[in-house]
Amino acid sequence: MDIQVQPTILFFDSGVGGFSVYREVKKLLPDYQYLYCFDNEYFPYSEKSEEEIIERTLKICQHLDQIYPLDLIVIACNTASTVALPSLRKYFSIPIVGTVPAIKPAAEKTITKHIGLLATKGTVKRKYLSDLVDKYAADCCVEKIGSTKLVELTERKLHGYPIDLDEIKSELVAWEKMEDLDCVVLGCTHFPLIKSELQQCLPQVTHFIDSGFAIAKRVEFLLRDVKVRSKNQIINQVFCIKPLLEGDGLRKLIYSLGFEMLNLLNI
Ligand code: DGL
Repeated sequence: MDIQVQPTILFFDSGVGGFSVYREVKKLLPDYQYLYCFDNEYFPYSEKSEEEIIERTLKICQHLDQIYPLDLIVIACNTASTVALPSLRKYFSIPIVGTVPAIKPAAEKTITKHIGLLATKGTVKRKYLSDLVDKYAADCCVEKIGSTKLVELTERKLHGYPIDLDEIKSELVAWEKMEDLDCVVLGCTHFPLIKSELQQCLPQVTHFIDSGFAIAKRVEFLLRDVKVRSKNQIINQVFCIKPLLEGDGLRKLIYSLGFEMLNLLNI
């Protein structure tokens, strides 16, 4: 009897942030085949040029698609999604799902009409973002913080090193006294992974909103009648571009998330 091969989904991010999206998709679609690639050679993407981000993202996704025929790619990185989606969609004929800051849900949820967007330095300054705000949150006052430091702190935490709450707090001082700030959009996929720390620093905020669940629903919808490209089953695995250090705590986390192997990708 033939085994029914499940769709293969690739998640791409500069670092560990994409795991916050992956875990939502995996929860909804536990039997699919999962590949996760993080570009730790160019991390962080926050302040890199648009050209560099587009080139890296395209090159890595193309490379993996040649080894494993993919059925869908999730760009689990807001910073890359704001610039690289058109090029990816031009090259690939499979669905490319991007990560868009959840401005619309936040504008629907806020009572005070005062919301915050926490993202990378790159994301907060892009036109893509101001268009989203104009379209969905024109009646709200939208505060923005672009931080590379918070991305680095999240990365440190997931690699198993302690992080200091005061360092997180110092990135958020501008919002400390804003008593009516009730919703914060986590516009970088790293930030759901430090949600409890952010909650401690901003106790007035009632909702921290990310895009993970919405992406999972979108993936489910796009793959409902897919004709799977791969003839073979593969194992769920993670790829990085440069080797991890000896004793890096990320290995343990990767296995606990349901991946069976960590590989180096030679690009
Ligand atoms: N996780 C990423 C994002 O959603 C990028 C973080 C970075 O490399 O700066 O924007």
